[in-house]
Amino acid sequence: MTTENKPIQHILNSDQFDRPFLDYFCHLTDAIRKMDKTKEGLMYLQGLLAHRRAMLYFTQPSTRTFLSFQSACQILGVKTSEIRDSATSSERKGESIDDSLRTFSSYVDLIIMRTSTPGLCDRIAAVLDKTDRPVPIINAGSGPDQHPTQALLDIYTLVRSFKKEGGLEGKTFVMVGDLKRGRTIRSLSLLLALYPGVKIIFVSPQEYKITEDLSARLIKKKVNFVETEAFTDAIAVADAIYMTRVQDEYDVTGEVKPVDYERFHLKKSHLHMLKENCVIMHPFPRRGELDVAIDEDPRARYWRQERNGMWTRVALITKVLGVDHHILMPEL
Ligand code: NCD
Repeated sequence: MTTENKPIQHILNSDQFDRPFLDYFCHLTDAIRKMDKTKEGLMYLQGLLAHRRAMLYFTQPSTRTFLSFQSACQILGVKTSEIRDSATSSERKGESIDDSLRTFSSYVDLIIMRTSTPGLCDRIAAVLDKTDRPVPIINAGSGPDQHPTQALLDIYTLVRSFKKEGGLEGKTFVMVGDLKRGRTIRSLSLLLALYPGVKIIFVSPQEYKITEDLSARLIKKKVNFVETEAFTDAIAVADAIYMTRVQDEYDVTGEVKPVDYERFHLKKSHLHMLKENCVIMHPFPRRGELDVAIDEDPRARYWRQERNGMWTRVALITKVLGVDHHILMPEL
């Protein structure tokens, strides 16, 4: 059985995917976007999972990921229920998170969860796998650890952007920001490792360098990467720039030293230095690190990236709930 035909039980970490899956996944997302063009296509999608229910357990703040998953469920006819604050669940009465999530699994066919606890999704998936009703878990962000669905939408955006330029192979990716605690860059870097010849330039102040476990994993995967503080040198050679914000919600009170982050801000005045076809991305939310004046530049892809998030999540839900082959039927 090829990877693309293999069922997927959980989406937990970006390194669970291989290259044939990514190629299949981009193709599947393209097919879904085509169906969006007609009422018939949209009505077909609406009926695909109308018999299914999903739980959105988002106890860490979220705008895009929550709404894009909710919209993806709506597109597929999946009914949703949600918890957005553990203070409103029985966790407040002392129930363990394992028991709470096992309870949700009794009522739904899929759990999509975002939490601030690294590794929690993996643990809950293992708990559910031992039950009579092992519903799938999708990790929608697990602390500073992983954000696999963001990595998939980022790859989809890059694949589309480089379609006419020979794909991602051999391209230079510049990741800027709080690389220590930014889960998006961790998950994305591990997927970029699947494209031969890529080079990753990690740009950050010393305080926000990538963690040792990530560099060890990239070395093991033989990825060509460098770490630097030379922001302008890096952006000048980039085929894609991935900007990120400071993840100060993880700061421990009293331990934080002020970091000079402004020299890592991408400003309109930098645009002339970039390659003509450079792709500018950001997972959002943004602060000062990405000048709003850049939005008008044709190289800015972050608004499209955000919408791609919804379509890739539609694709992912069809895959996890086993109806993706209904999208890729030859007659459609
Ligand atoms: C990111 C996240 O939550 O990790 N946002 C997102 O999901 N689009 C990035 C961030 O919060 O900085």
